[in-house]
Amino acid sequence: MLNEKMISLLPFETERLIIKPTSIDDIELILKMDKQEDTQRYLGGIKNKTREERIAFLEKKNSKFKDGHAGSLTVYLKDGTPIGFTGLSIDEDNNNASISYIFDSDYTGKGYASEACRKLLSIGFDELGLNKIYADVISDNNRSKVLLERLGFTLEGVRREAAYIKNTNEYKDFLDYGLLKKEYKK
Ligand SMILES: CC(C)(COP(=O)(O)OP(=O)(O)OC[C@H]1O[C@@H](n2cnc3c(N)ncnc32)[C@H](O)[C@@H]1OP(=O)(O)O)[C@@H](O)C(=O)NCCC(=O)NCCS
Repeated sequence: MLNEKMISLLPFETERLIIKPTSIDDIELILKMDKQEDTQRYLGGIKNKTREERIAFLEKKNSKFKDGHAGSLTVYLKDGTPIGFTGLSIDEDNNNASISYIFDSDYTGKGYASEACRKLLSIGFDELGLNKIYADVISDNNRSKVLLERLGFTLEGVRREAAYIKNTNEYKDFLDYGLLKKEYKK
């Protein structure tokens, strides 16, 4: 029900952005972002995927919408330039969702991630009536922590050494952040 409602509200529009289901139209963006060290640092490192592998990945992402699941969304500037991916992964049984975001490093530091996430929070709380939106972050991903704190999330706990960083052979803590409907301010 909540997934279907979210899909029915797409595309989302903000002052500077349009947010639509991810599709194979986003192939150049994903191939570009796969190679950005800054973008991939906390997501397992640079990805050496072929164009064919990424097309299959994007097709799979898009097919989720056809199955009634609100999957990955692509964030576009109003001139049609794709700049990143975001999404709310809804847990209908518990009436909550996790939020995700990853932006092309050419378009960070401009408030676009905050603007896209604010829209998802408004959809989640105001339109879907979710009770909670949450995210987890590797402890030294400062930009992601700052973003969540800017959005009003609370640090709820630490999962010690829950993340294994392959390229540096290290364990890092995962930080759990959450925002409740009763705490949410537009
Ligand atoms: C996490 C991530 C999305 C954060 O992006 P970001 O660029 O820091 O966030 P925003 O787009 O909201 O930009 C915020 C910055 O833009 C500035 N800004 C400039 N113009 C602005 C505007 N018009 N409105 C709001 N902020 C603006 C803000 O002051 C802020 O600067 P600061 O970081 O120096 O304080 C990005 O770093 C990323 O994609 N990282 C890689 C993927 C990743 O780690 N994802 C999370 C996994 S948990």
